[in-house]
Amino acid sequence: MNIRVLREDVTKVKTPALIVNLFEGVKSPGGATGAVDKALDGAISQLIGEGEIKGNSREFTLIHTFGKIGPDRVLVAGLGKQEDFSANTVRVVSGNACRFLRNRSITSACTIAHGAGIGGLDPQSAAQAIAEGTLLGLYRFRQYLADNGDGKDLENLTIVEGNADKTAALETGLRVGRITAEGAMLARDMANEPANVMTPTRMSEVARQVADADGLEVDILDREQMEELGMGALLGVAQGSHQPPKLIILKYNGDPDNPSDNLGFIGKGITFDTGGISIKPAGGMERMKGDMSGGASVIGAMQVLARLRPKANVTGVVPAAENMPGGEAQRPGDIVRTMSGKTVEVINTDAEGRLVLADAMTYAKQLGVSRMVDIATLTGAIVISLGKVCSGVMGNDQKFIDQVIGAGDATGERIWQLPMFDEYKETLKSSVADMMNVGSNRDAGSITAAKFLSEFTDGVPWAHLDIAGTARSDSDKGHLVKGATGVPVRTLVNLALAEAS
Ligand code: BES
Ligand code: MN
Ligand code: ZN
Repeated sequence: MNIRVLREDVTKVKTPALIVNLFEGVKSPGGATGAVDKALDGAISQLIGEGEIKGNSREFTLIHTFGKIGPDRVLVAGLGKQEDFSANTVRVVSGNACRFLRNRSITSACTIAHGAGIGGLDPQSAAQAIAEGTLLGLYRFRQYLADNGDGKDLENLTIVEGNADKTAALETGLRVGRITAEGAMLARDMANEPANVMTPTRMSEVARQVADADGLEVDILDREQMEELGMGALLGVAQGSHQPPKLIILKYNGDPDNPSDNLGFIGKGITFDTGGISIKPAGGMERMKGDMSGGASVIGAMQVLARLRPKANVTGVVPAAENMPGGEAQRPGDIVRTMSGKTVEVINTDAEGRLVLADAMTYAKQLGVSRMVDIATLTGAIVISLGKVCSGVMGNDQKFIDQVIGAGDATGERIWQLPMFDEYKETLKSSVADMMNVGSNRDAGSITAAKFLSEFTDGVPWAHLDIAGTARSDSDKGHLVKGATGVPVRTLVNLALAEAS
C-alpha cells in the first residue's frame, strides 16, 4: 500500500474519499474539518445539529458530495473526548476508517493529519500514527485462502496538508510509521503461520533473511552447540520433537563507542506448545502455534532497528523449540542442568517457556547485555489477571520496569506491573534440585513464573513481559485485526529509541 503526503487544499483535492474528524461535543468544527464543512455549505454542522454526528469514538459518517467539492465523499471520523486524545487515538481511528472504506470497495483515499492542528500532536507523530494505524488495520493473513476476497483493497492513502511547513515532518513520520508497522506485521506473519510451517528452523531462516536484508549480525546455534554450552533446560524441552531447536541471535550495533551499553531482547520461541507429556486439553490447542509470538516480536523489532538505525546497541536472543510429547520427550520429575549451573526439577512439562528462557537469558548475559527484557506468552494465569487489555510486567529493577511501561504507553501497547515479593518464591522449592519449574500450588501463577526467571538474571536489570493475553486479538478493532497482534514490537522499538536519545 502507498501512503504519501500532498500539499493541497482539502476542499479541492480530487479523491474518492476524504477522511476528516470531529471531537465529541464539538458543534461547529474548526481546522480542516471546518473548511470542508464550509465548502459543503454547513452539511457537517447540520448533521451535528440534528444529532446524527456526535463525534464519539468508533462513529463514522459517510457524506456524498455529488461534485460540490473535490472529494467525492467525506468520511467524518469521531475522535471521542478531546481530553482522552493521543497518538493512539489516531492509530485506532486510522485503522477503523481504512477498514470502513475498504468494506465499501474504495481503493484510494485522502486524510487530514488528525491531531496535528488542535489535537496538540506534532505533525511527525500524527503521520507516524496514521501510517501505523492504516497498515496494521488493513493487515490480512490470506496466504492459504483460494478465495482471498474481492481483490479490492485500499491501495492509496494521501495525507493532505495545506501548510508547506509541515510536509517534511509528515513525511518523516510516514517513513518511521511504515518501518515500525512492517516490523509488527513481520511478527504477525510469523505467529499466524501454522506450526507445520513456522518451525524453529523456519524461524531461524526468517531471522537470517532479516539480518541479510537490513544489515544485522546473525548467529544461529544448533543442538550440538547448545549441548557444548550446557543448555540442559532448553534441550530438555526440545527433545520430544523431531524439529531441531535453534538459538537465534541478532545483533544491532548502532553505538559502537559504548559497547558496555547493550540492551537485550529475549523472546520465547516455542513454535508449538502441546504441553509435552503434561499434555494440554484438545480444545483451543491450535492457538499454541502462537507460542513463539515473543520471539517473533524480537525479530520484528530488530528489523525495525536495523532500518531506523538509532544510536543504541541491541541484542536479540530467541530460543526456538517445539514442545512435543514424543518418545524422547522429557518426563515430569526429570532434573535438568541449566547453562547457569542451577538444576531444575521439571514437575510440569507444560511450563516449558521458562525453561527455554532460562538458558537464553544466561546466554544473553554472556553476550554482554547490560539490561534485558524477556517477552513471552508465558502463563494462562496472566489472562485471568489482566485479560486481553494489557500485558503484565515484572522485574528486578523498578527504574527499568518504569521505562518499559513508559515505552509501551506511548504506543498504546499497555502494560501493568505485578509484584515480586520474596514469598512468591517459596513454592518453587524442590527437595531434589535447586528449584522446581512450577509452584507447588496454582497461586499467582504469572508471578511464580517470573520468580523462576529471576533466578537467571545474574545481576542484570531485567523486565519480563507476559504477553499471553495480548499476543492475539479475537476481533478487528482499530489497528488490531483478528489473529496475531505483533505486540510488543512497537514497545521494544520505543525502548531502544529512548536509549538512543
Ligand atoms: N504457552 C503457555 C501459556 C499460554 C496460555 C499462552 C494461554 C497463551 C495462552 C505456557 O507454556 C503454559 O502452558 N503455561 C502453563 C503453566 C503451568 C503449567 C504452570 C499454564 O499457564 O497453564
Ligand atoms: Mn506450556
Ligand atoms: Zn508455552
